[in-house]
Amino acid sequence: MAYRIALIGCGTVGQGFLEILNEKEKFLKKNYDFEAKIVGICDKLKGSIIEPEGIDLDKLLDILKRGERIENYRKEEAGKIEAEYFIDNVEADIMVEVTYTNLQTGEPATAYIKKAIQKGCHVVTSNKGPVALHYHELKKLAEKNNVYFKFEGTVMSGSPIFNLVESSFKGNEILEIRGILNGTTNFILTKMEEGLEYEQALKLAQELGYAEADPTADVEGYDAVAKIVILSNVLFDGKIKPQEVEREGITGISKEDVLNAKEMGYRYKLIASAKKENGEIIASVKPERIPLTEPLANITDIINALCFKLDLLGEVIIQGPGAGRKETGYAILSDILNIHFNILKEERR
Ligand code: HSE
Repeated sequence: MAYRIALIGCGTVGQGFLEILNEKEKFLKKNYDFEAKIVGICDKLKGSIIEPEGIDLDKLLDILKRGERIENYRKEEAGKIEAEYFIDNVEADIMVEVTYTNLQTGEPATAYIKKAIQKGCHVVTSNKGPVALHYHELKKLAEKNNVYFKFEGTVMSGSPIFNLVESSFKGNEILEIRGILNGTTNFILTKMEEGLEYEQALKLAQELGYAEADPTADVEGYDAVAKIVILSNVLFDGKIKPQEVEREGITGISKEDVLNAKEMGYRYKLIASAKKENGEIIASVKPERIPLTEPLANITDIINALCFKLDLLGEVIIQGPGAGRKETGYAILSDILNIHFNILKEERR
């Protein structure tokens, strides 16, 4: 089965996704009867192209590697394409929205997602802003338009959370969730324990592409707040807003604090948690000293982890990459493949 895919945004995640799609082309066809052609890319900084016949990914990825504009794909220079025009004019089955994250308003990504859904496209995003702020509205809109809206990459990058819950926790009630949801801060805390100063560790996280464009979102806990809001609203069917989450970042923790805690058998971790109490969601993000004997204390570097407390199963913990180019690129692919499997199932009915 062949899909036409268009990308809004072609930064780290978008390029990671295109690289995987290119590398795995034969594997996906052979194992899942899945084929895709990229029919358009629109990036505010790098340029745009609409190519109904499908873009040659080797050629395009070379252009991006050389830091050239996307329009160089064609000999003749195309005019500048705005995202709204792009969404209106590209003929796609699936729109991948991977523009920059705005945790204050969720824009302009939310408007792009709405436009794509209203046009009848399935939408896949790793953008935390729209999902943290407008999940229920977007979900309803997708249902009304009979399309899928998927966002696995918003929490723990490609490590499965939403797809795992959907496929494998059936029959359970989730009582509580608690985990490490920000890769950058976990990386900084780990590196401080290894001897780096806070600023050195943050710089390294930025160089490795883990941190947000403005790393305040990571170190002050806003990124983890967005993720616990997404989890609460999706998994508990909650209606909470980021400002309702108690928040404290890691900027008050020094290298000495980290080393002293270690000597006493603890590790500082930025813990995000949420539970439903009397129908109300209580969520927080704050640093905690965790005994080294507990699993969450041993989640280091860029790795994230989420512990689910379930009524039937008890505690289930999933750990995996929390950020990264390929890792979040994979999240996009996993959502697209799930859409593909759902479409196949519907066709068999
Ligand atoms: N800045 C985020 C993190 C990226 O470090 O976890 C992934 O959401």
